[in-house]
Amino acid sequence: MGTRHNNFAPVLRLIAAVLSLSATASAIGVNYGTLGNNLPTPATVAKFLKTKTIIESVKLFNADPDILRAFAGSGLKVTVTIPNGLIPSLTKDDEARGWINDHIAPFYPKTKINRVLVGNEIMATLDDNLISNLVPAMKAVHRALVKAGIDDVQVTTAHAMGILKVSEPPSAGQFWPGHDVAVYAPMLQFLRETDAPFMVNPYSYFGYSPKMANYSLFLPNPGIPDPATGITYTDMFDATLDATYSAMKRLNFTDVPLLVGETGWPTLCLPGQLECTVDNAACYNSHLVARDINGTGTPLVPDKPIGIFLFALFNENQKPGPITEQHWGLFKPDMTPVYDCGVVRPGEEIVASPESSPSSSPKEDQQANGNSGDEQAKGDSTDEQAKGDSTDEQGKGNSSTGSESETSTSNAAGLYPYSQFVIDFVSATSNYRDNGGLDSTCNLSGGVTTVTVNPSHAPIVKSREERWMRIWKREAKLMKKLLRSSD
Ligand SMILES: *[C@@H]1O[C@H](CO)[C@@H](O)[C@H](O)[C@H]1NC(C)=O
Ligand SMILES: *[C@@H]1O[C@H](CO)[C@@H](O)[C@H](O)[C@H]1NC(C)=O
Ligand SMILES: *[C@@H]1O[C@H](CO)[C@@H](O)[C@H](O)[C@H]1NC(C)=O
Ligand SMILES: *[C@@H]1O[C@H](CO)[C@@H](O)[C@H](O)[C@H]1NC(C)=O
Ligand SMILES: *[C@@H]1O[C@H](CO)[C@@H](O)[C@H](O)[C@H]1NC(C)=O
Repeated sequence: MGTRHNNFAPVLRLIAAVLSLSATASAIGVNYGTLGNNLPTPATVAKFLKTKTIIESVKLFNADPDILRAFAGSGLKVTVTIPNGLIPSLTKDDEARGWINDHIAPFYPKTKINRVLVGNEIMATLDDNLISNLVPAMKAVHRALVKAGIDDVQVTTAHAMGILKVSEPPSAGQFWPGHDVAVYAPMLQFLRETDAPFMVNPYSYFGYSPKMANYSLFLPNPGIPDPATGITYTDMFDATLDATYSAMKRLNFTDVPLLVGETGWPTLCLPGQLECTVDNAACYNSHLVARDINGTGTPLVPDKPIGIFLFALFNENQKPGPITEQHWGLFKPDMTPVYDCGVVRPGEEIVASPESSPSSSPKEDQQANGNSGDEQAKGDSTDEQAKGDSTDEQGKGNSSTGSESETSTSNAAGLYPYSQFVIDFVSATSNYRDNGGLDSTCNLSGGVTTVTVNPSHAPIVKSREERWMRIWKREAKLMKKLLRSSD
């Protein structure tokens, strides 16, 4: 209907305003990644989130003391992430206690740390040493918190959707066999006992196909029926979450809540990927914010609201991987919105922050580099290309040290030779914008042929399906190995 997102946003703001007055305050969360050399200081970010947005929680890919200090007294809830590489050592109680004493105790409770994630997307690393130690490390970290007298901090971990062997139809959802009883069942038991959620990172963006565009974007579509339940799914987000619930149910865990650790939509990506527009990102995230505020569950579990951490707070100019990786932000580094999906407080004008001019202090550089190990590839392009391929081509040895090495090896190996290509693409895309091609919200038919990029500059991009198949095949191989060794 050609509605522009900036017409849609005030409606959402109104909903937000009305609902934030009621007792059932929304709990919209956002992933606060720091892989940029032009990002505002943590103190500026805390103040910005508190005064200008309705965002109530942030999720960090690390436990950066500067951020934790800056968020003290803000009232914002903070989820921190323990780096993947620490998992094997954290199974030891004294190591876990040491980590909590160093990274949580100094800031808690002034900083409302309410959740600790033990690693990020560990199952997708396919690293036995991390996977087999994951649940023991989660338990040790929990014991360490209790020992420190901290009893209101949840311990969980975030999963990529590759943990599901079957996701369609949603009622048939199933974890990969082997890991289901070896990892997920004990993990869910732990989460049940400690009253913590199972966290997944569903990205409808990665399942996008032009034919099913509306299904990915919460737009009108005929839906896909699930014969077993009679439910017709009209969006991939719900279908993915219900597939996860079904997988949990198969293991007899129906009471552990789901929490979305990451989801979002990029505003710029590779040539030919016309789904990466500001309008589509605004459309997808607006729907998520609206349902989060509303406390909407999924068709299969309607009475359990799904908490959501949007990905991500800022466009991060130092994220490795395809150009897409640098364009997931709701806000630009100067804190003006890339688009508003309903998280800006009603009536707030946001002016560009003066401290945002692209500068790169050594401190910021160091921080960005230091953090790159913690901030893992989220769903996909990086996940499956950088992480997946480096595992394949460089052997397991280096992937077990965490994503820091994955990140640097993928760069060193020159998997993403952008240079001129990026320049061409950005310029082609901005021409496209200037010509009005991206005007209408969620208008999926406009301007497909306008982008012209010299194909010889394009990197080799495997189809998403192909990339998932690669991950699954590796997972299956690992599973066979596990089953053999348990005989
Ligand atoms: C989408 O854009 C195309 C081309 O600009 C236009 O013809 C069409 O009417 C638009 N559709 C909607 C639903 O706005
Ligand atoms: C997709 O959604 C738009 C509304 O934004 C609608 O005009 C269009 O008909 C839908 N497409 C399909 C295939 O249902
Ligand atoms: C789930 O519970 C049912 C009924 O009690 C039981 O038959 C089944 O073996 C259980 N499944 C698992 C994976 O524990
Ligand atoms: C809000 O909740 C109501 C009642 O549960 C539901 O009918 C409606 O679809 C929800 N809206 C959104 C945007 O989730
Ligand atoms: C793995 O990492 C080590 C140390 O960083 C490096 O010396 C070695 O060459 C790497 N191995 C591979 C196969 O990349």
